[in-house]
Amino acid sequence: MDYLGKDAHADGVGNNKVTTRLRTFNQQSKITLQISRLKSYESPLKKKYDVEKYDLTSNYVFPDSMSELIPKHTPEYIDHGQRYVERIMRALYYFKQCALIGPSGTGKTHIVYAVAEIAGLPLWEINCGLQTTSFDLFGRYIGLGKENWVDGQIVSWCRHGGILYLDEANMMKQDVATRLNPLLDTRGHIVLNEKDNEIIPRHPLSYVIISMNPFSVEFAGTKPLNAAFRRRMSVWINFDYLSTGSKVNESEIDLIQERGGVTREIAMQMVKAAAQLRANYKKGDLPYGPSVGDLINWAKLVADGLDIHTAAEETIVSTTSDDIATQESVRRIIKLAGGHQLLRPSIQSAETLDD
Ligand SMILES: Nc1ncnc2c1ncn2[C@@H]1O[C@H](COP(=O)(O)OP(=O)(O)O)[C@@H](O)[C@H]1O
Ligand SMILES: [Mg+2]
Repeated sequence: MDYLGKDAHADGVGNNKVTTRLRTFNQQSKITLQISRLKSYESPLKKKYDVEKYDLTSNYVFPDSMSELIPKHTPEYIDHGQRYVERIMRALYYFKQCALIGPSGTGKTHIVYAVAEIAGLPLWEINCGLQTTSFDLFGRYIGLGKENWVDGQIVSWCRHGGILYLDEANMMKQDVATRLNPLLDTRGHIVLNEKDNEIIPRHPLSYVIISMNPFSVEFAGTKPLNAAFRRRMSVWINFDYLSTGSKVNESEIDLIQERGGVTREIAMQMVKAAAQLRANYKKGDLPYGPSVGDLINWAKLVADGLDIHTAAEETIVSTTSDDIATQESVRRIIKLAGGHQLLRPSIQSAETLDD
């Protein structure tokens, strides 16, 4: 499973074939092969963070069917001394769960993939803001009769282990939250009343990460987190943008320059503009602040030959809002952040748009 969805099956398929063929030999060879196959992907991220001592799998080998759920090829998480990866892994090691709080685009989802990859844990990702039904999460019978029960995501995690990632946890529907509460105790279990009250104890290698936007009057649409959830999270980690307002971060400029393929000057202008937009988002004046990912997209179009403002139209302006007045203030902020050199191309692009 890839964070950015590329090369998703590139190295899994061939190995699968080998496994199936060798399985016919004997039980012993099957086991050895499964182990070697799972160990064959050594995440390059491991070396970048100091997390050796937080072993979250104790050499347990997850069943074959779950190896697809262990993320691979997650891009490096750029950190500016906050040691997020280490802090999350430490929280999971000691307490089995932790909460990540921060505005959207600050890399919460990215880091969860990175942690799952480094730890070698299957990832069960649920976006609580989407209309996910109780059937999807807990399970259902397929067809008539009681033979064909299919576990939902949460039940699968509880049975088989890994990281349960509840994104936008504050948006979770009350009926789902109520059923999840007993599970959030580390020795918890789940009762499937829809399946003859089967009791499933929580797997020993099961971890929970929740993430959400900070709750405040400024962040439109956010809700306070369910109180029972809040009490059960031992560690809370705050996320923020690398650059906001007048604070412009060098590593973010490097990142945009490298991944977007633009000059340092352009990268700096983009980060400056983003920092202003984010400050406005945090004040509640804009519905969204651009993420590093949005800036990389913006830079890629510039690298392909678009001028900075036309490229901003297709990326930053439209991702922020579809409201005309809001889009206009985004344009204004981008122009101001660019300073004098940018005034000319911006007028050009405005004319082009009028055509
Ligand atoms: N510190 C960082 N290092 C590298 N990439 C980052 C970082 N922060 C954010 N990104 C990128 O910005 C985009 C948004 O991040 P995401 O994890 O989806 O944010 P969130 O889940 O907090 O809304 C992604 O493309 C992600 O890879
Ligand atoms: Mg996210």
